[in-house]
Formats: sequence, C-alpha cells, structure tokens
Amino acid sequence: MFEKTELLPPDPILGLSKIFREDPRENKIDLGVGVFRTQAGITPIMAAVKEAQQIVVNSETTKAYTPADGAPGFADNILKLLLGEDSVAYREGYCSAVQTPGGCGALRLAGEMLARSEIGGLTVGSPTWANHIPLLSAAGISIHTIPYYDTAKSEINFDAFIEGVRKLGPKDVLLLHGCCHNPTGADLSEDQINQLIEIALERGFLPFIDTAYHGFAKGLEKDAWIVRQMVERLPEVLVSYSCSKNFGLYRERTGALIFKGKTAERTKALHSQAISIARGIYSMPPAHGGAIVNEILSSTELTAMWKQELEAMRSLVVDNRNQLVSVARSTSLGNRLDFIGDQHGMFSLLPISNETVEKLRVEQAVYAVGGGRINVCGVNESNINRLVDVLAAVIV
Ligand SMILES: Cc1ncc(COP(=O)(O)O)c(C=O)c1O
Repeated sequence: MFEKTELLPPDPILGLSKIFREDPRENKIDLGVGVFRTQAGITPIMAAVKEAQQIVVNSETTKAYTPADGAPGFADNILKLLLGEDSVAYREGYCSAVQTPGGCGALRLAGEMLARSEIGGLTVGSPTWANHIPLLSAAGISIHTIPYYDTAKSEINFDAFIEGVRKLGPKDVLLLHGCCHNPTGADLSEDQINQLIEIALERGFLPFIDTAYHGFAKGLEKDAWIVRQMVERLPEVLVSYSCSKNFGLYRERTGALIFKGKTAERTKALHSQAISIARGIYSMPPAHGGAIVNEILSSTELTAMWKQELEAMRSLVVDNRNQLVSVARSTSLGNRLDFIGDQHGMFSLLPISNETVEKLRVEQAVYAVGGGRINVCGVNESNINRLVDVLAAVIV
C-alpha cells in the first residue's frame, strides 16, 4: 500500500524550531516559531488559565463525549467576546459558532464547508501565513492570490490589493486577517476596511476573517472592530478564531468557526453543516481547552485577570518592537526598521531574500522564517545589540 509513499520535508515553521533546538551555538537567536515569549524566552501558562483549569479538573465528573459543537458555553462566550453582547446579529441569532480544534481546525472546517458550497474560488492577499494555502487547498477549493504587501517598501500595497478585490464576484471568498497580519504585521486601517465593505456590498463576495491574535494588536475591543463592522454591515461573513495565542492554549487546540448567515434560519443551516462535516473528520473538538476558556469567560474575576494578563503580553510585544526601532536608529540602519514600530502583533517581515534568511541562520545563528518573517518576541535585552548589528549588515 505505502511502497511509493514519499518522505516529505518537515513543515517550514515547525521544522525550523527543531533545527534551532539542536543548534549548539550559545548566541543563537530564535525569531522563528509563532508563539508569545517573555524576555526570559518563556511561553507562560496564564494565571487565569491555571486557575480555570483547576476549577475544570475539580468539577469534572465524567469524560463522556461533549456536544458536537464543543464544550458547553464555549461557543456562546466566544461570540459574546468577539461580537460584543449588544451585537444585534448575536442577539437575533444571525451568528453562531462551533468549537474547533484550534484556529487551524476552524480554517479547515470552513474550507470543507466552502468546498460543498457554490464557491468559485478563495482569494488571499500575498504574502499570507504559510499554512493558509496548504490548509485551505487541501479542502479542495481553488486558491487565488492578489498582492497585499510590498516587502521592499515595508508597507501594504493597498492599490494593488483593492484592484484584486474589485474583480471578485458573488462566488468568491476573500480571506482577511482579523489583526496582527501574519507574516507582515501590517493591518488594514479602518478607512481601508470601510472601502472593502463597500466593495463587498457592491460585488457580493464573502469575507472570511481569520482571527488568531484577538487582543494582541490594539486590545480586545479595537481588534474586534473589523469583525463587528463586517458582521453588522454584510449579509454573510465567516470567521475563524484561535484561542492559542490570546489564552496561551496552543497545545490544547482550542478555536471556533463563526458564521453569520443572511437570516437566523440560514445560520442554523450553516451550523448544522459544520457539525455534520466535523463529525466526518474529527467527530468533535477536544473538551479541555474549551472548558477552560468557558470557565474564564463565565467568571467576572477570571475574565478581568485574563484581560490584564493579555494586555501585559500585548505591551511586551509593543515594547520589543519599539526597542528594535530605537536600537536600529543608533546604527547604520537609521530609520530603516521604523516600520516595525508601526506594525502589530508578533510578526514583521524583513526586507531580505530567502538566501539571506538562510545565511543568517547558517552564519549568525539568527533564525527567521523563509520570506523574512521574524517574531519580535525573540528579541530581548541580551540579544538585541548583536541582532541589530547582524541585520545592519544585510538590510540596505
Ligand atoms: C494567521 C493564523 N491563523 C490561524 C492560526 C492557527 O492557530 P491554531 O494554533 O489555533 O491552530 C495561526 C497560528 O499561528 C495563525 O498565525
């Protein structure tokens, strides 16, 4: 059966972490994998998560199956968190959510739903997160790319992006990043989002907003703006949501697929399809992470604690960005890295080639992802000067 099965290369991002771990050089710098880290290089378990987890463990009485849409209460709490409790679409049943195995699970489930719809194709801005295209094309939908970011200029190429968007029609889906664009860190402005909504109303395409960093850009409320606006003003919207980063639940595989249908009845139909498709793939999502998130979001105290911790993580990322900019300014780089200070989330894209990325790893033990993506969480007091010197030698 498997005699001709080929050996595949490791995943470009996860594979890099392995090479990093095995690198014996003491001055190595990890700007690769996409997890939050403190200055000490730790990805902590949030205190609110620890407390909620204990409550879940103590109160659990069975390991029997959970409902198909996940840990009880989880989906509803995520909807309230993202849309706001006053959202008309939420209150009137136009929106619904199912728990999924992480944001990846939500993306894939959406891909499977789209593959069973009247979809023409799914359009993504380029570059996008390295896993988007493999994940979604594996569901059998055709993917098209349009320009999003000009790496040499370190800014969004909005004219080219919007030109591509204007060509979309009612059978098209446009994948957007909720905030903290991966890999560029460059998010659309409110004005640009408004323009997108106008075009979506005119052309009829379906926006699909991948929200993996809610709370990491400008805070929970502001980061939800794109989803809230689109849900309020457009007839149909898809959202994939990840709790990996903002709850630090990476390995618990906790996320959600959220849909807004044209009517409450349409939404119920979408919900039923999602559950049925999930049943044919993984049956139901793991319960633990969903139960933890539900515990936090159902408690005023734990929610306040979690929000405070998330805000602390967010400001650490902002500090790291500002530090990089300021140290770079004291070198020959001048204001060349200023764009990093204006961007959001953990990632930015350095204006360097794949050959340079490789050279940085081999010669300097500086690990960035192919395409030039860096995770600013890998920058700390003890490595920032060497890092900036190394970058000054390769960025012109
Ligand atoms: C843009 C984007 N979407 C989705 C995900 C998926 O997250 P999860 O780990 O919850 O599957 C990630 C994770 O890195 C991401 O960066």
